[in-house]
Amino acid sequence: MRVLIAGGAGYIGSHTVVQLVAAGHEVVVVDNFSNSKPTVVGRLESLTGTPLEVHAFDLTDRDKVESLFAARSFDAVIHFGGFKAVGESVEVPLEYYQNNLDSTFSLVRAMQRHGCFRLVFSSSATVYGENPPVPMKEELPTSATNPYGWTKVMIEQVLRDVAATDERWRIGLLRYFNPVGAHASGTIGEDPQGIPNNLMPYIAQVAVGKLEKLSVFGDDYDTPDGTALRDYIHVEDLAAGHLAALTRLGSTDERVSTWNLGTGHGTSVLEVLHAFERACGHELPYEVVARRSGDIAASYADPSRAERELGWKATRTIDDICADQWRWQRGNPLGYPD
Ligand SMILES: NC(=O)c1ccc[n+]([C@@H]2O[C@H](COP(=O)([O-])OP(=O)(O)OC[C@H]3O[C@@H](n4cnc5c(N)ncnc54)[C@H](O)[C@@H]3O)[C@@H](O)[C@H]2O)c1
Repeated sequence: MRVLIAGGAGYIGSHTVVQLVAAGHEVVVVDNFSNSKPTVVGRLESLTGTPLEVHAFDLTDRDKVESLFAARSFDAVIHFGGFKAVGESVEVPLEYYQNNLDSTFSLVRAMQRHGCFRLVFSSSATVYGENPPVPMKEELPTSATNPYGWTKVMIEQVLRDVAATDERWRIGLLRYFNPVGAHASGTIGEDPQGIPNNLMPYIAQVAVGKLEKLSVFGDDYDTPDGTALRDYIHVEDLAAGHLAALTRLGSTDERVSTWNLGTGHGTSVLEVLHAFERACGHELPYEVVARRSGDIAASYADPSRAERELGWKATRTIDDICADQWRWQRGNPLGYPD
């Protein structure tokens, strides 16, 4: 298939590009590099051994998206292009609603107009809202606790409404849990700008000496070691889930399918820290501080629907994740070069 990867220069998109090319698909990337660097493209070309077609423009620009679809035909689209920082979304909600919704609108309009009806969308476990029961199942009601989460809830609804208008639509809503890790080559990985918001890149920067110590937010949760449990999924397992979803959309009769992509179990903050210590070979400083408001004790997926319908399962362990994250961090302490 020829697949348009919207936001394909980013963290999850770049890993998915590598797997799609390896599986024999033709890939075209659109990215405005608002949260990625053009130097990732050379890394992807080295990994795939093939030149990559990349269009640098903003997906919210309807005319540019339309022109691309007029010039090229696509069999499917995977839509990663959006802003993703929860805290920032509270500061600048309009930017989040505009970027995440408008980029989806222009893609879906162009797809409709040019007869491309297979879409995989990056949703998130955040659509399960405040304190859902674990393990989280796809049938739970959706809601959100911040503007970022609402963009995902809204886009899922928009896509269900659009799918209802034409029987040719086949849309996969992939609800990711906590994507972490990096490609085993150590040449591509997550490159957060500024102080990382997420645990794994934060620990990696402590390990490399960029940050002084990890703050553990609360050790009095009702969990085995008192620290919060999250479902960490290796980005390579996640990328494989996209391939499985693309294939499944070719044979299902459902217009919209929703799949959790997670491992199905929670790993605690201290377990992640200790796994990272094993990977990097030295102890990492941390201190326990107060809980963060809004944090919940445990969040993990019920991934059984994806296993049943996609024949997909996360296979990599927390030790695999930390080994790969460390290889990427050690080799690229400053992230991608400019
Ligand atoms: N990483 C996570 O923890 C996580 C969890 C759940 C869901 N998601 C979702 O998965 C998707 C990909 O996440 P990621 O971690 O790879 O993020 P990322 O920021 O690394 O990648 C997103 C890419 O999209 C690009 N982009 C953003 N807006 C654009 C626009 N208007 N036009 C063109 N390009 C644009 C960015 O430059 C970036 O390269 C996002 O939609 C995110 O919300 C991520």
